[in-house]
Amino acid sequence: MTGTTTNSIAAAAPALILFGSPGSGKGTQAKLLRESFGPHISTGDMLRTHISAGDDLGQSAETLIKAGKLVPDEVVNELVAERILEPDCKDGLILDGYPRTVKQAEVLLKMMQRDRFRPAVVHLVVDYDKIVARLSGRRQCPVCGTIYSSTSNPPKIAGKCDRDGSALETREDDKESVIRERLREYDSQTLPILDFFQKSGVSMFEINGGEDTPQRILERIRVALATVNGGASQASVRS
Ligand code: AP5
Ligand code: MG
Repeated sequence: MTGTTTNSIAAAAPALILFGSPGSGKGTQAKLLRESFGPHISTGDMLRTHISAGDDLGQSAETLIKAGKLVPDEVVNELVAERILEPDCKDGLILDGYPRTVKQAEVLLKMMQRDRFRPAVVHLVVDYDKIVARLSGRRQCPVCGTIYSSTSNPPKIAGKCDRDGSALETREDDKESVIRERLREYDSQTLPILDFFQKSGVSMFEINGGEDTPQRILERIRVALATVNGGASQASVRS
């Protein structure tokens, strides 16, 4: 490795990849981590913004999302490639729900190299039966994005956001039949990425995301990531 390459790695900004099945808590953790890591980039949220705008991209994505299917790689690759070049990403960023196929992961690692980011993967593992229960009770604020759970984290006033009082919404893809399809897509298309990342030498941490409060899971993530930020160039750890 040349001196120039070493310097550019040292200067690279951290890119935290929150990886995990639908409902594993990626969005919840991203919102807790963004103060210290950088902007929360969720391809699902970006696609839902296009759906709300009713533009061409949104219209073609909507049918797929409602069916629990993945949106084509080229569409999400382009969204992410543009977003990570925005100035607020220069010191670090959080990716949530991207990459979701090996093809996307290949494109992402090229982007990371080109734009000088240092990727680290946090894999949130949650039992699938728990996922179905979680997602059936999820409610989200359409204005500020705060995520609630009717069981584990209910709003103070039923149906209203604690922060801005907006009426909370249920996602259209949170019906049990669609959740099951999303889990099938995750098993067949997304899980193989872990093998690809392992072979590519990306730092990876497996965190049990099912047995504790979001705050305690956050602490485990912080401890795991401290080993990377403390200088380890490669790691694969369970917590
Ligand atoms: P996306 O929006 O990314 O959805 P997802 O990956 O299916 O994940 P979710 O948002 O459902 O769950 P989450 O892990 O964020 O969990 P959350 O924190 O909300 O994608 C939607 C669709 O868009 C895809 O199906 C696909 O069609 C398309 N798409 C998106 N990205 C794509 C890509 N890259 N390529 C192709 N297509 C793409 O938590 C869930 C619930 O659990 C909440 O109620 C929360 O309060 C609760 N909870 C969280 N943590 C805990 C805890 N510790 N204990 C108890 N409850 C908890
Ligand atoms: Mg989410």
